[in-house]
Amino acid sequence: MQLRIYRCRICGEVYLGYEAPENCPFCGATIEFLEAPEKYPADINDIDITETERADLEASIELELANTRFYLGMAERKDNDTLRATYKRLAKVEVEHCSVFCKLAKVAKPADLMTPGETTGSWVSDIEESRTRENRATALYALFAERATNARLSEVWAAISAVEADHITLDELAKTYA
Ligand SMILES: [Fe+2]
Ligand SMILES: [Fe+2]
Repeated sequence: MQLRIYRCRICGEVYLGYEAPENCPFCGATIEFLEAPEKYPADINDIDITETERADLEASIELELANTRFYLGMAERKDNDTLRATYKRLAKVEVEHCSVFCKLAKVAKPADLMTPGETTGSWVSDIEESRTRENRATALYALFAERATNARLSEVWAAISAVEADHITLDELAKTYA
């Protein structure tokens, strides 16, 4: 078996492995976005954006910031190690999304991105809150993807909308561990 280099078209991260995984381990984008590195243009995020696209990117950054902080808050709870580790991972996925949106908007990552936020205090209600957040993200990014005139932005929002929809399914699964 030969170790290969896969590059994620959505987040730009490299995955090293024998085969492409079903999802990017960093941003969660599905397998079709994992390509040979020579297919990844170095200037992929170097785009001109409209006023609306800028506002939508700013809203996306805010959303990812809030969700990252919420999941980091969940990951601080000590009474369920499976859920603690799961939401720690989810926080890292949302950080990756935040990072992509910041690159596209050409802004620095928010200073408080890694500061754990307030949670509701119980796993069941935190997971319910997560589901609400993921529903909102899925719908919002689908809307942004549809109204974007730039093809790259549309591609990224559509891919991340699908990832957030997967997170709704994950919340359902997480409930069975609560
Ligand atoms: Fe990715
Ligand atoms: Fe998410």
